[in-house]
Formats: sequence, C-alpha cells, structure tokens
Amino acid sequence: DMGGHDTYMHKEISEQPDAVDRVLRGRIDDRFSTVHLGGLNLDAREARTIRRIKILGCGTSYHAGLIGAGLIEELARIPADAEPASEFRYRNPVVDPDTLYIAVSQSGETYDVLAAVQELKRKGARVLGVVNVVGSAIARETDGGVYVHAGPEVCVVSTKCFTNTVTAFALLALHLGRIRDLSVADGKRIIEGLRRLPGQIQEILKQEDEIKKLAKRYADAKSMMFIGRVRGYPVALEASLKLKEISYIHAEAYPASELKHGPLALIEPSLPTVAIIPDDDLLEKNRAALEEIKARSGQILAVAHQEQEKADHTIVVPKNETELDSILMGIPLQIFAYHTALALGRDIDKPRNLAKSVTVE
Ligand code: M6R
Repeated sequence: DMGGHDTYMHKEISEQPDAVDRVLRGRIDDRFSTVHLGGLNLDAREARTIRRIKILGCGTSYHAGLIGAGLIEELARIPADAEPASEFRYRNPVVDPDTLYIAVSQSGETYDVLAAVQELKRKGARVLGVVNVVGSAIARETDGGVYVHAGPEVCVVSTKCFTNTVTAFALLALHLGRIRDLSVADGKRIIEGLRRLPGQIQEILKQEDEIKKLAKRYADAKSMMFIGRVRGYPVALEASLKLKEISYIHAEAYPASELKHGPLALIEPSLPTVAIIPDDDLLEKNRAALEEIKARSGQILAVAHQEQEKADHTIVVPKNETELDSILMGIPLQIFAYHTALALGRDIDKPRNLAKSVTVE
C-alpha cells in the first residue's frame, strides 16, 4: 500500500519525520542528558575500555557508517572509521580485542556484512549491530546493538533507513560520549538538537516543489560531481549513489579538498556540481572550492544553511547542532534524485540491475 504516493520511494521519503521520531522514542534520558539503548549489551565499564570502533556495511549503510564514525569521534572521542564490509572481509584484517566492531544493515541479510560478522565472531571480537529488520540474520549473529526502527522499506533504494541509521548512530555516540568525556551541557544540547529533527525534516519536505524544478533543470546532465568536507563528504557520497541508482546519471563524490588534486580537470559548463556546505568551521574553505568551480564556468547547486553567492542555486536546509547537520543535508538530495529519475521516466522503485537485499557474494 503506497498510501496515496505514486512510488514507495516517495512514500518512504515522506515518512522520515515519523521514522526519526520512532528511533528517538523512549530512549532519551533527560535526567542524565544521555540515552538508553536497551539492546546494546555493553555496560559502562566495558564501554570505557573500547580503544577504537570499526564500522562495517555496504552501499548506503556504509555511508551511514561513515557519518556514524564521525559522530562517535566528535561526541565520544573514540577513534572510529567505517569500511565496506566486503573489503574488510577479504583483506585478512587484524582483529584487535580493544576494538568494538559495528555491523550496519537495513535488511540485516546482506551476505558480505553477515560474513564479516561471522569472521569477527570466530576470532573473538565483540560485534554490535545497527540494523533495521528485527530478528534478521545480522541482528541474531551480533552480541547486541541498536535497532533503527525505520519501519519496512520497500523501495530498492534506501532513504528513510539511511536517515534513521544515522540518527541511531547519533544516539550511540551520545551514549558513549556521556559515559566518557561529553559534558552534561553538551549532552543536553545534542538531545535538544535530536528533538528538533522531525520538525526540521518536515520543513525540508515542504520544499519539494522547488527541488523538483531544480531536478528538471539538471536532469539532462551526463554526469554530476558531488562535493563536501568532513561532515559533508559522506553526504556527498550518499547523494551521488542515490542519483546513480535511480536516474542512471553518472555521478562522483569527492572531498572538496581533493578537487585540486585531480577532478578539477573535469569541471566545465556541462558538468554540474552539487556542493554540501554546512554552516560550520569549514564554510570559508567550502566557499573557496565554489570559486574554483565558478572560475571554470561549472554550474553549482549548493545545499547549505544560507544562500551561497557563488552557487547558481541553493537549497537552504534548517540549521541544527553542527554535529547533527549531516542528518538533514542528505534529505533534499533524496528528493532531488527522485525528481531527476522521474523526469527521465525511470522505474524508481525497481532500478535496473539492483535487488533490495544482496544475499549473494
Ligand atoms: O540491507 P543493507 O543495508 O545491508 O543493504 C546494503 C546495500 O545493498 C544497500 O544500502 C544499497 O546500496 C541500496 N540500494 C542503497 O540505496
């Protein structure tokens, strides 16, 4: 049942305010400015002994893991990184007893992720899951974890589950942070930011008509470049994947800082750039990248907290706490990819060559 929407993707994009509300519900503890994660299976003493966190997933879940790693480093000050599960399992990784491993999956059935979990468990590692489907294979194989409660996701491309997974990572990062060195005041600030998310997502959804116009403008591009820095870079990766999957337009994502190390050679009027520019301490650096693109007559669509003078168009996103900004910045680009694919007449819910869950190697 699409509930009045033309596609599941549109329905699932629209459900995000409620979905995010669900991942937060019942978990916030205002008294200690932290969150409770019932299924984590990791007590405070163990949490303090973690030296490193390694996050594993595929596709969109890997991108959510990259944002998760950033949140964990920022809020809990634990070194963290993410890697595609398939790469990890084939390179005979060093499994370290002081590292906490986290497997991320919407379906909980992705074979490469499951195989990585099994290999880790066989070597005695502690593995948590950040999973959507309750009782799925990955949920069962892990030692504990956080359910992301996005609800059923039918469209082959992931939208609401991405947003909820990233929000679940914010909860985990806050939880670990408050066990370690995150102050009560910062905990409170993040909690208030989390509570603003559903309303802010609603505000983004209201911009659909304008985003649709932009999508039509750029729909005849042969290729698009997506750039961002630090918190914006995983958003660029995810937005470029979304565009590729459903519109079949070639897209690349680069850290904005890497442009001058090569991809700048591609910039010319027929290659538009989507720039993710949060209002953070990298704003000026990002603006400099826009100037470099403009100097080569490249078109720019910015996703930012304020109009960008150098951009041809800006989608303005509501500002939250800096640490949480990346949760919101991907959403207008889901809508952008959707309307680009629609303008090109693509089969949005079932893109060619793809399956909802990849249970083969
Ligand atoms: O179910 P999972 O989250 O484990 O799936 C992982 C990827 O296959 C998945 O995210 C894929 O990249 C989607 N088509 C993204 O839209």
